[in-house]
Amino acid sequence: MGVAARVEPSVEQFVAAPLRKMLIDGKWVQAASGKTFETPDPATGKVLARVAEGDKEDVDRAARAARRAFDEGPWPRWTPAERERLLLKIADLIEANGLELAQIETLDNGKSLGESQNVDVPSAAATFRYYAGWVSKITGDTNPTDPAFFNFTLREPVGVCGQIIPWNFPLLMAAWKLAPALACGNTCVLKPAEQTPLTALRLGELLQEAGLPDGVVNIVPGFGETAGAAIVQHPMIDKVAFTGSTDVGKQIHRESAGTLKRVSLELGGKSPNIVFADADVSEAVKGALVGVFFNQGEVCCAGTRLFVEEKMHDEFADAVAKAAGSMKQGPGIDATTQVGPLVSQEQLERVTGYLDIGKKEGAKVLTGGERNTAPGLEGGYFVKPTVFTGVRNDMRIAREEIFGPVVALIPFKDENDAVLQGNDTNYGLAAGVWTRDVSKAHRVARAIRAGTVWVNCYNVFDVTSPFGGYKQSGYGRELGRAALELYTQTKSVWLRI
Ligand code: NAI
Ligand code: MG
Repeated sequence: MGVAARVEPSVEQFVAAPLRKMLIDGKWVQAASGKTFETPDPATGKVLARVAEGDKEDVDRAARAARRAFDEGPWPRWTPAERERLLLKIADLIEANGLELAQIETLDNGKSLGESQNVDVPSAAATFRYYAGWVSKITGDTNPTDPAFFNFTLREPVGVCGQIIPWNFPLLMAAWKLAPALACGNTCVLKPAEQTPLTALRLGELLQEAGLPDGVVNIVPGFGETAGAAIVQHPMIDKVAFTGSTDVGKQIHRESAGTLKRVSLELGGKSPNIVFADADVSEAVKGALVGVFFNQGEVCCAGTRLFVEEKMHDEFADAVAKAAGSMKQGPGIDATTQVGPLVSQEQLERVTGYLDIGKKEGAKVLTGGERNTAPGLEGGYFVKPTVFTGVRNDMRIAREEIFGPVVALIPFKDENDAVLQGNDTNYGLAAGVWTRDVSKAHRVARAIRAGTVWVNCYNVFDVTSPFGGYKQSGYGRELGRAALELYTQTKSVWLRI
């Protein structure tokens, strides 16, 4: 199982433990079934760690613990100042253990260490810090009713929140889910993705170190069809927050009807990144690359449909292909790596499957187009950064989420054509627009049906700005003040005077 001596001794120790247990009611326990599963290192395909495999019974124990912690336990009754201080402490502990968390993330997910260190870990800390600030600012109203009464509203927590997260930003997605839920006074059952359970489990240790009471956050690693489904069905869980594929999102939407849970869904995308000929072309090339190769393209809002104005299409395509072809690929743990491996064998097969589909559909590969089995990378799940041209918006590679380092260039004639083609998708998560014309930028930003539009930039995030989907990219908004809506409900109280 050993990882090379390129990581902190504490990381080596963390992954080499015979079993990483799950966190239920403040205790680290085995699965009720005794089952375990392995999580591989995507850079080598070798086993990285062994983890307790949660199932229905474990979710039940976790849900009961979270219910107790909510109904009887101290958490929702702490003063706002106490909860604020605790969330700030979590943020401090994430930072203090930043290198370790970043290395665990990179080993488990494959992403480059620079990204784990400079994006995932600081953003996770910032998320806890930001929501710590909200704890003392969640207020209700007094309403101008008939003066014979006094009426006011309370913003109360929803209760027990089931939170199912994906493998592309494991620590950060845990933070996006847990921080606002806790700020609003909820308790949680969190299920990390089966591909990447490790940073959530390390975070669980930090939550305990910060002094979070038992049962407030329970962390149950396991598979979607078993542990995930059990969360969605559990009668003691009041809300499900999910990030993942659109298919599973639809299934959760259906399944949640049984207990009428509140649901928020952050799903897939096929985002248009639109480059007009009047753009700063060298910036747009960089933006196109960041838009699709960041995190190996395993990003829900990746700019995978790169629309380029006809008159500059060919030169733009060449520039993107040249830059993509020279990106350094390797294990994420190597400091010089720009594009790491995909997360799993399954994802490798899915992405290379789409490369074949694209070629069969008649798209042209300008660079990449295949698995990377260069010396040293043979065992890992590497796919070369790939640029397709000759793509039409009705091809499968332009309609279906690939979730890998693959971009499809599609030419457009004019602004109207760009908007029509850009909106011609089931998804609506994000979009990019590149132009020097301010009016055009505003027009296109309004016309695109997506939850986020970036103008002359791409993949920019801030904890203060809401994120979520239109259309089949889901509903509900995470981050910013908007996330408080997901984790509170309003009670109206009447007093006769
Ligand atoms: P997935 O949607 O199956 O997995 C995401 C999470 O949902 C994981 O924690 C998984 O265990 C859980 N899950 C799976 N089935 C479930 C069920 N029936 N009930 C409850 N929870 C369930 O995604 P998967 O299979 O890992 O990746 C497939 C594709 O999904 C990717 O190629 C990509 O296109 C998309 N995806 C999108 C993400 C996003 O950020 N929007 C993240 C991950 C995947
Ligand atoms: Mg799946």
